[in-house]
Amino acid sequence: MDALKIYGGKKLSGKVKISGAKNSALPIIASTILAKNRVKIENMPNVVDIKTLLKLLGRLGANYELSGNSLEVDSSKVNSTVANYDIVKTMRASILVLGPLLTRFGHCEVSLPGGCAIGARPVDLHLKALQKMGAEITIDEGYIKASTPKDGLQGADIHFEKKSVTGTENIVMAAALAHGETNISNCALEPEVVQICEILRDAGVEIEGIGTEQIRVVGTGGKLLQFQDIKVIPDRIEAGTYLCAGAITKSTVKVSDVEPKHIQATINKLEEMNFKLEIGKDFVRIAPPEDGKIGSVDIVTAEFPKFPTDMQAQFVALTTQACSESIIEERLFENRFMHVSELQRLGAGIEIEKNQVKVSGSSELIGADVMATDLRASSALVLAGLVAKGETTIHRIYHLDRGYESLEEKLRNLGAKVERVKVDIL
Ligand code: UD1
Repeated sequence: MDALKIYGGKKLSGKVKISGAKNSALPIIASTILAKNRVKIENMPNVVDIKTLLKLLGRLGANYELSGNSLEVDSSKVNSTVANYDIVKTMRASILVLGPLLTRFGHCEVSLPGGCAIGARPVDLHLKALQKMGAEITIDEGYIKASTPKDGLQGADIHFEKKSVTGTENIVMAAALAHGETNISNCALEPEVVQICEILRDAGVEIEGIGTEQIRVVGTGGKLLQFQDIKVIPDRIEAGTYLCAGAITKSTVKVSDVEPKHIQATINKLEEMNFKLEIGKDFVRIAPPEDGKIGSVDIVTAEFPKFPTDMQAQFVALTTQACSESIIEERLFENRFMHVSELQRLGAGIEIEKNQVKVSGSSELIGADVMATDLRASSALVLAGLVAKGETTIHRIYHLDRGYESLEEKLRNLGAKVERVKVDIL
């Protein structure tokens, strides 16, 4: 199994180009089920989650060609409507095929994603919304078995009790081919939701309220869509992670090919910690605090545009280097502090109390063997490894490969000493 060895304590410098957003690319790929044409997608991140979803689409009968960061998908000949457990269990986001399959074919079976490392993460909101559109849904042998009335899904008024990113995406996609008008309230505002709405609008679906909590979709009544060429938006979490890499090593690092307004909450917190940020049209440069002292910060995770839960772990790592105590509260997911015990192995002073951590700051981190547990928790370990004295070995880095394209290469280009090694299975 692959592990990552990091020899910490090196300053970074230079520029890192940010890849396309995995969390935007996933619903985009799922949405091709609604297309009658071969869809061209640029800036596709070359990461394992994307390959997993493509494998699922391939099993459903789609053809695709992934070459570097360009993808072409032809889902017009999809002829299976069953998303099997063996793929869905490896990636929760496979649930994104539910809305498109159901609205196009009138029936489908999608394995329930089940538990995951960061808590229960149910899909009840997706199912309730589809039921409001007329779907009949049963859970049978671990599968969501769904079917529509004879003439397909019907437009409806849907209110999400809680904002859900993939929930909103699934329902917008389902509504795109439904009969009549769907009004969705309390929609998620994340840039990835905005992109999928824009793509469907450009494909001919009447959509209003894009980027707001209230989205109105007028379905085509079963008519497949003619997609335009697509470019995936930049990955705001990857961008934030590299800014933290600059921050934790007190280095000057420029992240390029980003959309600064998507990472404003992260920028604000870094500024609060006394880092110097320069914001350009499509880049952000971070430099160390003038007096060399990293300030403490308090953070509460929330929905966009507030501070993202997907940046929480990285800031826990970063605040171990602040000069006083920081408090970080996780409001979106239970059990999302699994990086904490691993950071403690490196010498971090962190206490967990329910859904918040107190990070004491001024910790001298010393390299050790640590275990990656989920995607973002792993990136916190990489950040800690960059500043820890000596050698840090991060095991189970398949979690990182799910969402960070060319991680070692990008870090090495910034001057980090990082290598991928094979180790016996841990
Ligand atoms: C997406 C992101 C993930 C990010 C998360 C929050 C993708 C592929 N993944 O996940 O990286 O961490 O948004 O920004 O885009 N909930 C329910 N019932 C549901 C659905 C959600 O109770 O049916 C709850 C969740 O448990 C959580 C909250 O709603 O507490 C928000 O989750 P949601 O926005 O749905 O997260 P995902 O879309 O799974």
